[in-house]
Amino acid sequence: MKISFSEFELPRSGAVVVGVWEERVLTEPARRLDEATGGAVSRAAAAAVRFHGKKNETLALVGPPELPLSRIVLAGLGKPEAVDARLMEDLGGSLLTQLNSAGESEASFAIDAGDKTKLKPAEAAARLAFGAALRAYRFDKYRTKEKPERKPSLERVTVMTASPAKAKQAYGALGAAAEAVAFTRDLVSEPANELYPETLAERAAALAGPDLPGLTVEILDEHKMRELGMGALLAVGQGSVRPPRVLVMQYRGAATDSPPLAFIGKGVTFDTGGISIKPAAGMGEMKWDMAGAGVVIGLMRLLAARKARVNAVGIAGLVENMPSGSATRPGDIIRSMSGQTIEVLNTDAEGRLVLADVLWYCQDRFKPKLMIDLATLTGAVIVALGHENAGLFSNNEELADRLIAAGKAVGELLWRLPLSESYDRAIDSDAADVKNIAGDRGAGSIIGAQFVQRFVNNLPWAHLDIAGVAWSKKDAPTVPKGATAFGVRLLDRFVVDHYEKE
Ligand code: BES
Ligand code: MN
Ligand code: ZN
Repeated sequence: MKISFSEFELPRSGAVVVGVWEERVLTEPARRLDEATGGAVSRAAAAAVRFHGKKNETLALVGPPELPLSRIVLAGLGKPEAVDARLMEDLGGSLLTQLNSAGESEASFAIDAGDKTKLKPAEAAARLAFGAALRAYRFDKYRTKEKPERKPSLERVTVMTASPAKAKQAYGALGAAAEAVAFTRDLVSEPANELYPETLAERAAALAGPDLPGLTVEILDEHKMRELGMGALLAVGQGSVRPPRVLVMQYRGAATDSPPLAFIGKGVTFDTGGISIKPAAGMGEMKWDMAGAGVVIGLMRLLAARKARVNAVGIAGLVENMPSGSATRPGDIIRSMSGQTIEVLNTDAEGRLVLADVLWYCQDRFKPKLMIDLATLTGAVIVALGHENAGLFSNNEELADRLIAAGKAVGELLWRLPLSESYDRAIDSDAADVKNIAGDRGAGSIIGAQFVQRFVNNLPWAHLDIAGVAWSKKDAPTVPKGATAFGVRLLDRFVVDHYEKE
């Protein structure tokens, strides 16, 4: 789907969408269209008992006889003071779906929020386009028999605005964000027979090149991992015929002496549970157990694409958790890169083992300013927070507050859960330095986070348990069902808001 920006004009074909304020007050483009149709727009609005111009309300009219338009859609905007970036994005996304179900092939969004809102007109137009681009994502590469009428019909969207040049400029970084989100969604959606540690690493490595200056990618293989002493990560992978990898992405956009921000992802390309095998029902979902890694890769791509003035490293532990004759057994004691020994009492608590080594490697090699890890770590976080919030854990108040605020701004919500010594005691092992599960049930997500914290030295760190938000079973305005890429926009916003001015 192609998105472009133009000045307001009466479109010569396709569908046109115009905005209507609460109480059915027409915006300027709606008023002009009303004139051009001899009052059809205002008559339709007045006759529709379910349309008041509130947000999320739309009213579709067939193309009027005197104009070459296939359809006119009135889009409720609500109150001008409540119009913000998120509202415009959601509207863009909802309109996209509505026009696709109507079978339209081209559409003009003539939604003039005017100067009554806190958004600049160019920004409003760019956000509308961004929402449409985010919602237009599909993972359809493996569908060979889809009927044409089930495929999206919309080919061209023109967003009309008083200042198209400014809108296009504002869309620059947003378009890059939409592409990064799509890239992450693609990775997360791929099945594990196609996407395994080596191929996932290759896809990330292919990003480095002249298109994304400042981005470099290294891949560590098992030999290197063994040399580094990454016994925890290796233990997770040893049951699989697919060898593990560690992905190291670096982006330099600031002075060389400025310590990087570090983003770390769990990249379990498939999680059977290992010898502590999972039940059959729903196991296919575990192809997205690499969502944390997918988000880190998409974020690094985005920072490079929009030339962020920051230094960042993205590290992912890529591994497949399988049961076999060579798999780690419950009860095994392994040695992590930090030197700490781990008693593995449940091989399905593997994400924390992966993070243990990549976090240690990250702080050891890069001395980052801060570390943020993302992991589909626990089913328990879904019990606690459902699919509305990801779990946030941090040893630093300022970092936690900044992440929560960035999440609110982009609509990727975080809810902070506690860490404390009393929880930490639950993972003391009788046989080793630490065990990977607690003895009794309860507080599963906190226990996972406490384990991860054992591998974090004295620096600001946050852990995002994204098990409940990485994949969605229902459509949302800017997130079609499936892989969400939760975290890409949040962390990009976090970087924009705090780390590019230094
Ligand atoms: N990848 C899973 C967590 C998960 C479960 C994500 C369900 C999404 C949906 C993780 O590796 C896991 O298996 N965690 C265990 C931990 C337990 C053994 C302490 C869990 O949550 O059951
Ligand atoms: Mn598991
Ligand atoms: Zn897992």
